[in-house]
Amino acid sequence: MSLLDHTPTATPADAERLARDVFGLVGRASDLPSERDRNFRIDAEDGSTWVLKVSNSLEKRAVLEVQAEAAALAAAAGVPVQRSRPALTGEPIVEVDGHLIRLLEHLPGVLTADAPPSAALRRDLGRVLGLLATALEGYDHPEAHRDFHWDVARADVVVRDLRGVVTDPVRIALVDEVLARFDAVVSPALPGLRRAVVHGDANDHNVLVDAGDRTRPDERFVHVCGLLDFGDLVHSVVVAEAAVAAAYVVMQSGDPVGAVCDLVAGFHSENPLTEAELDVLWTLVLARLSLSGVHAAAQSAQRPDDPYLVVSEGPAWRALESLLAINLRHALYRLRDACGFDPHPSAAAVREHLASTPAAPLLGRPWAEVPLFALDLSVGSDLFAAQDVGAGPERFDVLIRRDVDGDPDAVAVGGYAEARLLYTTPEFATAEDPAAERRTVHLGTDLWTYAGTALHAPRAGRVVHVHDNDAPLDYGPMVVLEHATDDGVPFWSLYGHLAVETLSHLREGDAVAVGDVIGWIGSPPRNGDWAPHVHCQVILDLLDLGVDYPGVAVPSQASTFLGLSPDPALLLGLPGSVAAPARRDVRDTLADRRRLLAPNLSVSYADPLRITRGIGAYLFDDLGRSYLDSVNNVAHVGHAHPHVVRAGQRQMAVLNTNTRYLHEEVLRYAERLTATLPDPLSVCFFVNSGSEANDLALRLIRASTGAQDIVCIEHGYHGHTQALIDVSPYKHAGPGGRGAPPWVHVAAMPDPFRGAYRGYDPSVGTAYADDVARCVRAADGRGLAGMIVESMIGCGGQVVLPDGYLAAAAGHVRAAGGLVIADEVQVGFGRVGPAFWGFATQGLVPDVVTIGKPAGDGHPLAAVVTTPEIASAFANGMEYFNTFGGNPVSAAIGNAVLDVIEDERLPENAERLGRRILAGAIELSVEHQLIGDARGLGLYLGIELVRDRATLEPADTEAAYVIERMRQLGVLVSTDGPFHNVLKIKPPLVWTDPDVDRLLTTLERVLREPTLAR
Ligand SMILES: Cc1ncc(COP(=O)(O)O)c(C=O)c1O
Repeated sequence: MSLLDHTPTATPADAERLARDVFGLVGRASDLPSERDRNFRIDAEDGSTWVLKVSNSLEKRAVLEVQAEAAALAAAAGVPVQRSRPALTGEPIVEVDGHLIRLLEHLPGVLTADAPPSAALRRDLGRVLGLLATALEGYDHPEAHRDFHWDVARADVVVRDLRGVVTDPVRIALVDEVLARFDAVVSPALPGLRRAVVHGDANDHNVLVDAGDRTRPDERFVHVCGLLDFGDLVHSVVVAEAAVAAAYVVMQSGDPVGAVCDLVAGFHSENPLTEAELDVLWTLVLARLSLSGVHAAAQSAQRPDDPYLVVSEGPAWRALESLLAINLRHALYRLRDACGFDPHPSAAAVREHLASTPAAPLLGRPWAEVPLFALDLSVGSDLFAAQDVGAGPERFDVLIRRDVDGDPDAVAVGGYAEARLLYTTPEFATAEDPAAERRTVHLGTDLWTYAGTALHAPRAGRVVHVHDNDAPLDYGPMVVLEHATDDGVPFWSLYGHLAVETLSHLREGDAVAVGDVIGWIGSPPRNGDWAPHVHCQVILDLLDLGVDYPGVAVPSQASTFLGLSPDPALLLGLPGSVAAPARRDVRDTLADRRRLLAPNLSVSYADPLRITRGIGAYLFDDLGRSYLDSVNNVAHVGHAHPHVVRAGQRQMAVLNTNTRYLHEEVLRYAERLTATLPDPLSVCFFVNSGSEANDLALRLIRASTGAQDIVCIEHGYHGHTQALIDVSPYKHAGPGGRGAPPWVHVAAMPDPFRGAYRGYDPSVGTAYADDVARCVRAADGRGLAGMIVESMIGCGGQVVLPDGYLAAAAGHVRAAGGLVIADEVQVGFGRVGPAFWGFATQGLVPDVVTIGKPAGDGHPLAAVVTTPEIASAFANGMEYFNTFGGNPVSAAIGNAVLDVIEDERLPENAERLGRRILAGAIELSVEHQLIGDARGLGLYLGIELVRDRATLEPADTEAAYVIERMRQLGVLVSTDGPFHNVLKIKPPLVWTDPDVDRLLTTLERVLREPTLAR
C-alpha cells in the first residue's frame, strides 16, 4: 500500500476544530494542495495566518522531528522557513486519530512558479540554498538516511525501476540517455562528493518570493522569502540541493545553462561547490527531470483517466529533450566559469606546455624578422569612422595600414579577446530580437599580410578538419590541427580564411610535423570576404562542433569561450610587443572616475555603461553591445556623422585660431545661423557651452537695460555658472541650493498637466503669464533687466508651454522695460520640427536667443544671437574676447551641422517621428494606467508616469525601473521633471521609423512586466 492510500480525509471544518481544540487558534480553514497529506490554510481571528498540516497515517513522528530540527537550523542561519506553533500541551507535533498534526506559520509571498523569472531571483534562490547547505553541514539524523524515491543521488536506481511505465519510445530513449550519462558521470563520482542532509525539493511550488509592492518595482520578485516543505528531506549529496532547484529554473530563459549558472553562482557564493560537484551537477539536473518524468508517468499509469496528470508530465519531458541536446561539457565549462574556476580543467596544463615548448614561426620566418605591428580593431578603434565599420576588404586593408603608411610588408597582429563591430551578417546575431546579444568578442589572433603567404604548423599535430566554410564573413577554407601536451592532454589549433589551394593540400588524418606547410593565406571573396589574413585560435575542447567551432562569442559567454581558447600568442610564440591589451573591468573605470573626477558628477544606470562608439542613432559599449539612443539631443544629426567629422578634421588640419583674425568660415556660419532666425536677431556671439551663452545673455540684457532683476520660471535650468544657478530654480531650489537671490523673481511653471491651470488653451497661457506679471511687479522700483525662459521646459519635465504663454509673458516683461531671453539650448535647431526654434511655436520673437547643445553635434559650440541695438549697448568700451568662441574648427563644424539638417530634412523627420511616438504612447496609455501624459513637439517628448490619474501621484520609482529595464533591453531613455517621473525622449534627429518602433515595443514590453502591475 502506498502513502497516497493513507491520505487523511479531514475537511476544512475538521481543520477549524483541530486548530481551535489542539492549538487554541480560532479561525477559518481552507484547503491547500498536497500530494500525500492534508494541508489547510487557517486565517485566524487575530489576523494571523497559519498552515495546519494533517499528515498521512503512515508518517512517522521521527520523520517529522528531523524535518523540524533541520528547519530550526535553517531558520537560525537566516533561511526563511516556516516556524511551528506548539499545541496547547506545548508539543510541536500532536497525534489525533492516528494522524500527526502540526501548525506552521503561513509565509507571505508568491510561489516562484507564479513569479516572473529573472537572473536576480535565480541568484537569490541559489544564495538561500547555499545558506541552507551551510546550516545543515554537520547535522545528521538516522531518519534522514533512507532510500527515497526523489533522491537524485539514487535517480539511476529509481528511474531504472520505473522505466517500464514509460510507453512513448521517444521518452524511453531520453530516459536511457540520462541513465547512460548518470552511469558514466555521476556513479563513479558519488563516493567523492560531500554528503549531508538536504531539503531536496526546492521546486517552484516550494519556494516563495517577495511580491513587494508596485512602488518599488526593482525590489519585486527578486528576494526569496520562503522555503517550504521539508518533507523530501534526505541524507544525500550536497550538490543535490542546487541540482533540484536548477531543474526548475532551467527552462526559464532561452539560455538554460545561463539560467542554471545564475542559481549556481548564488549557491557558490554561500557554500562553495567543489570541482567534483560541478562535474556532476548538470547530469543531476537531467536526473531530476527524469525522476519527474517517470514519477508522473507512473501516476498516469495508475490513473489513466486523469487528464491533469497527462498534461503535467509534458514540461519535464520537453525540458529533458532540449537539455539533452546541449553539450554536457559546454554546460560544465560555463558552470565552472560561473563559480570562478578556470572554465576548462586542463587550461593550466596546456598553457604551461605551450609556454615551455618552442613554436615554429607560422609565417616561415622568425618573428624577429617579420615587421609586426599591433592592430586595434576594437569597438573604439579610431581606424574606423562610422561609415567604415562595414568596409569591404580592399578599403579595410587600406584602413588597417594607416599607422604604417600603407606599408604592405608590415604584418598586422591582434584581436585576441577583442570586441569588434565587424561582424555584421545575420549569422552573428543570436535571435531576431534586436535586444538579443550579437557575437562580438574575438577568440583568436589575426595576422594580416599578403594573400598567398605560406603558413607553417607552429606545433606538430594531426589534421582533423580541412573544410570550406563559405558563408559571408565565415572562415572560408579552414584547417584544424589536433595536438597534445607531453602528458597527453589534447588541444587543437584552428586556421581560418585560407586559400582554396589549402583544401587539396591537406587531408583529414594527415600527420603534420612542426614547420610543415599547412596552407596559404586566402584572398577575398573566397576567404569569407575579408582582407587577407589568417585567423588563428587555440581550442581546448572542440565541443563536438567540428568545423563550426565559433571564432567569435557573445559578450555574456565570452569569459567561458576565452577560457576554452587561450591566447594564441602562446601557440605561435609571438613577441610581447604585439600582445593584446587586457580589457579593463568596468568597475575599475568607475573606481578611477570616483577617485579622479568630481563626486557630484552623476553617472547613469545602476550598472554604468562604458560607451565606446556612436554611429547615427546608436551607441556601443566596449563589448560591442548596441543601444538605441533616445536621450542624447547633443548628437543632433547623429553620432559621428561623417560630414561633420570630416569638416572638423579638415579644418583642424589646416588652422585653428580665434576671432582676432579675419576668417570666412565663422562669417559664413553667422550668416547661415541668423538666416534661420527672425528679424531683428542678426548679431552673433560665439561661445563654447549653453552656460556660457546664457551667462553672456544675462550680461547683454543688463548692459542694455541698466537693470539687474531677472524673472525666471520655476524648475527652469539655464547652466552651471553662479549667475545661472541664481536664475535656475532647478538648482537653487533643489538639493544643495541656497534659494533665489533678491534680484531673481520666480514665476510658476506653466505646466498644462499638473499645474494650477491645466490644458493648452490660450486662456491657460494667459493665466500663467499673469504670474510673470506678478514677478514683474515684484521687481518694481528695482528695475527689470528681463526674463530668461526655456522655449520648452526640460528639467521641469519636458513641458510644452500652453498656447500664447510666451508672447503674453513677454508682453508683461517688455511693458516694464525688460528684455526676453529665449533659451534654446535644448530644443533649438529643428528639434521641434520645421518651426526650427521653440519660441517660434509660441508666436514670440525674443530679444536674445541662446544656442548650445545641438549646434556642434557634440563639439563644444554655442552661441548668443541678439539685435544690433542690444549688441551695441553691450559694446560699452569693454572688449569682448572669447578664446575659443568662433574658432575656425567650431565654425566649420557648425556649418556642417547646418548642411546635414538641410540635406537630410531633419526638422521634417523630427516632426513626423515625434507624432508617431506621441500617438504610440497615447495608444499604450489606454491599457497602461501608469502613463499619465504624453506630450512634446517634434523629437522633444515626455511621457509622464503616475500612480493614479486622479491624484497624479508621481510614479518616480516606476520611471526609474522603466529606464533601467529599457537599458537592459538596449534602449537608452532617461527621466526628468521635479518628481523624476517623466520619461525624457530627445534622440538624434536621424532616427528612422524602425527606431520609433523599437522604442515603443520596448516600452510596451516593460510596461507589461508583472513588476509594474498593481
Ligand atoms: C535649457 C538649458 N540651458 C542651458 C544649459 C547649459 O548648457 P551647458 O551644459 O552646455 O553649459 C542646459 C544644459 O543642460 C539646458 O538644458
